[in-house]
Amino acid sequence: MKENIIPHDYQISVGDRRNSNKHNSFLLWFTGLSGSGKSTIANVVEQQLFKKGIKTYTLDGDNIRKGLNSDLTFSPEDRTENIRRIAETANLMVDAGLVVLAAFVSPYKKDRENIKRILKDVNFVEIYINTSVEECERRDVKGLYKKARAGEIKNMTGISAPYEAPENPDIEILTENESVEAAAQRIIEFITPKLQLNNE
Ligand code: ADX
Repeated sequence: MKENIIPHDYQISVGDRRNSNKHNSFLLWFTGLSGSGKSTIANVVEQQLFKKGIKTYTLDGDNIRKGLNSDLTFSPEDRTENIRRIAETANLMVDAGLVVLAAFVSPYKKDRENIKRILKDVNFVEIYINTSVEECERRDVKGLYKKARAGEIKNMTGISAPYEAPENPDIEILTENESVEAAAQRIIEFITPKLQLNNE
């Protein structure tokens, strides 16, 4: 089948869309345990970018799993497929000229490597929200850790399923030592040069 699919060349390019938006487009990928603070930090970063007139969109595990990926479980295979679909979606959005923020547990190193491959290295910023499982369990905002301990949830990352921490993330946030505002500020500072069009 694949050999019969011939991509069509469209006249409006990603460069045209970036020029029109007056900023570069790329993906900010937030990885970390459930309850680590990924969505909270991404939300503050997006608001600050939005205020500066940057065109943004946020993809979030809990939202996407209710729609596009509602057919997927938390088995290793389904998590891989979850991340692959998100990466392809984010890639289209980056092509559309947006700064995309994505907050997913994404526990497997090979899946995060695959995102980098799909997006191409330059368009991918890996942000590790490093919060210990003890702290996530203490916070237990959604009550999932309690359920996992009671055996009501299988494959819970950090409890009964692995989390492979990034070895070389672009940014690492230790939420137990750094406030949400300070973390967001650090991310904004890191990406500000990347937003410039003449930096491509
Ligand atoms: S991922 O591992 O495939 O990247 P994703 O980010 O989409 O996960 O979804 C994680 C969210 O689903 C968590 O924030 C949590 O609210 C919920 N969840 C439900 N069951 C699990 C589980 N077994 N492991 C991790 N998160 C779970």
